Amino acid sequence: EEGGVTVLRPTDLSEMLAAGTKEVHEKAENTQFVKDFLRGRIRKELFKLGHVALYFTYSALEEEIERNKDHPQFAPLYFPNELHRRAALARDLEYFYGHDWQSQTVCSPATRRYVERIHQLGQEEPVLLVAHAYTRYMGDLSGGQVLRKVAQRAMKLPSTGEGLHFYQFDGVHNAKAFKQLYRSRMNELELDVKTKEKVVEEANRAFHFNMEVFGELEEVGKTLQEDVMDATPLHG
Ligand code: HEM
Repeated sequence: EEGGVTVLRPTDLSEMLAAGTKEVHEKAENTQFVKDFLRGRIRKELFKLGHVALYFTYSALEEEIERNKDHPQFAPLYFPNELHRRAALARDLEYFYGHDWQSQTVCSPATRRYVERIHQLGQEEPVLLVAHAYTRYMGDLSGGQVLRKVAQRAMKLPSTGEGLHFYQFDGVHNAKAFKQLYRSRMNELELDVKTKEKVVEEANRAFHFNMEVFGELEEVGKTLQEDVMDATPLHG
């Protein structure tokens, strides 16, 4: 910060991540599952399965973040009260599946590959957890409110927010300001250029893991009957 203004440089990690994931972000935005979601074409069964995938993903991510919360290459990004989603997702899943939701949910193959990568990094290369935290939390803070409204409308979920806790960051009052804080914390990490490049590469991998999960949901969608979508009447 210089004179109250944040000065950004091309070698700042936040800038490298934004520039280095621009292309893969566009790719992710253009997957069929994401496009359908944005148009409100979401079937509740698929939405629920998406939440299950997110639950396993955030459980792994936050377990590894906890393990590394004092690691100098992650500690400045430790914001459990503001960001962590595991508890919110558990509440949503309980709403969707009932009290025995844990016995009704399994981790899909694409989610398992994502989760295994997160666990591997948390134990062997914790600096690369930065990439996974960035990809999910910055994305959630960016698109969350739009997605929340779309989901609520499409599935006629109660306005009380049940089933939508995932999108609700109670500890973040100003998403834009929080994202700026998060960016400045990323830029304060003491990393050499080579390591920053590895973080960008890992963020690209994180986007791809997400796209793999979307692709899998799309496939499941093809085998599901058209339950919520269009509410087509049974006779005529
Ligand atoms: C940022 C939209 C999907 C991850 C953003 C921003 C927008 C946006 C408008 C910029 C916010 C800002 O500059 O403050 C969308 C839309 C999507 C989508 C419309 C779907 C159609 C995704 C997905 C992911 C993702 C699937 C990853 C799983 C991110 C990240 C950022 C971001 C990490 C932060 C970029 C940065 O400032 O460095 N998104 N997004 N987004 N999004 Fe998305």
